[in-house]
Amino acid sequence: MSEPAALAELAALIEETSGNVIPPGHYQFLGETAKRRAASLRLAGVAAYVAALARGELPGEWSRLLPHVTVKESYLFRHPQHFAALATNILPRLAAARAGRRSLAVWSAGCARGEEPATLAIVLAECRELVGWDWRILATDVDEEALAAAGAATFGERAVSGVPADLRARHLLRRGDSYELAPALARRIEYRALNLVREPLALSPALFDLVFLRNVLIYFSPEVQRRVAAAVAGALAPDGYLFLGPAETLWQVAGGLDAIDLGDCFCYRHAGAAAATAAPHRRRDAERRPERPQAAATTLRTTIHAPRPVVLEAQGTRERLALAARHAAADRLDDAVALVDQALLADPSDAGVHALEGFMHDISGRSQMAVASYRAALFLDAGLFQVRLLLADALRRLGHEQRAALEYREVLAALAAGRAHEVEALAPLALPDRGEAMRRCREALRDGGSQDLAARPR
Ligand SMILES: C[S@@+](CC[C@H](N)C(=O)[O-])C[C@H]1O[C@@H](n2cnc3c(N)ncnc32)[C@H](O)[C@@H]1O
Repeated sequence: MSEPAALAELAALIEETSGNVIPPGHYQFLGETAKRRAASLRLAGVAAYVAALARGELPGEWSRLLPHVTVKESYLFRHPQHFAALATNILPRLAAARAGRRSLAVWSAGCARGEEPATLAIVLAECRELVGWDWRILATDVDEEALAAAGAATFGERAVSGVPADLRARHLLRRGDSYELAPALARRIEYRALNLVREPLALSPALFDLVFLRNVLIYFSPEVQRRVAAAVAGALAPDGYLFLGPAETLWQVAGGLDAIDLGDCFCYRHAGAAAATAAPHRRRDAERRPERPQAAATTLRTTIHAPRPVVLEAQGTRERLALAARHAAADRLDDAVALVDQALLADPSDAGVHALEGFMHDISGRSQMAVASYRAALFLDAGLFQVRLLLADALRRLGHEQRAALEYREVLAALAAGRAHEVEALAPLALPDRGEAMRRCREALRDGGSQDLAARPR
């Protein structure tokens, strides 16, 4: 087997085993990793390594390989709007609903090195309504090395830089250059290896009141996203709450779950439960006011938002997005990515930021991730015809011809009905204008596969 063929096979094995899609743009990195693994196992090279892995002849090898090919980016209070909504809105609701049993079961699925469960523990500990309750957090990940690090509940300066000073003082203990989660909180967290793509999920029979599955689905194919979302929904209590990453959406992914508009962010609930108590996103055009907190737990909300890095306050999302687009147009991708990350952190509900994130995934060959970002953008603003055109092109490149055709038709329909508009801040990218978009959609629907539509945006 040639090395490129071996790498393609290795990427397919990784996707089958863990759900993570490795885009061809990352094959060089994958090749270096495979070479190192082959050398440490005294195998002849990448092809021999992949063949042995495929035949199941390397016991324990997946535990050593997966840490290299999964993304572990995380830090405490990542996406602070989620924790603010949790403190002010969701926990008071759960406290009222569970007052009889005074216990809560929480699951951090894809917990990386423990940053997310540690944050959840801090927020739960701060909730006045839960004082004296038996709340527990199950933290799972496919990466056993990351789990071992999580178990130490110790974090570096960068990981804790977003923790408000008062919470840091109350719940983190300084240990030289690091910070340790207070033992009373660490004891409430159980860490366990769990592969989300392996069904059935080997979880305790009890259902979870709260599930955080953030920044995990984004690395999976739509089919695997659907399967994992359904399995995770099956572990969610009928009136429980599910949080995803800001760039992730269950729109067209999981039936039976409704998005709950929390003002600065969304979470999900089983459809029946949501209808009874909140405004699902299907009704959000008519009513987009954030839900009011049910209890006076506003201190934590203020605290969580207060210490955002100064740089985030220095510019508005619009300026940051415009600057990022100029960097992207000039091929300064690192600068553009940094600005997009900042903009997402500051305002995850800005459709343009998700659109630019998708564009950068696209030009880097990560079509699958581009699709997720474009969908997030369109979820927030369905009239962005250029984004829908890019989405259609990406779907077509991924071989989803029928879904691509639906999107091309929707672009034409939106343009004809006058409900299409552009993202002004993305002007430097010279995306197709209305006439060009119409021409390309008609051509795609007529030919079903012309060369220029198969090409990446540029
Ligand atoms: C980017 S981190 C997200 C960490 C945290 N949830 C957050 O949002 O900050 C993605 C995590 O998902 C884990 N992961 C990837 N594939 C997985 C799978 N099949 N089952 C369980 N965890 C998986 C990775 O190991 C990694 O720790």
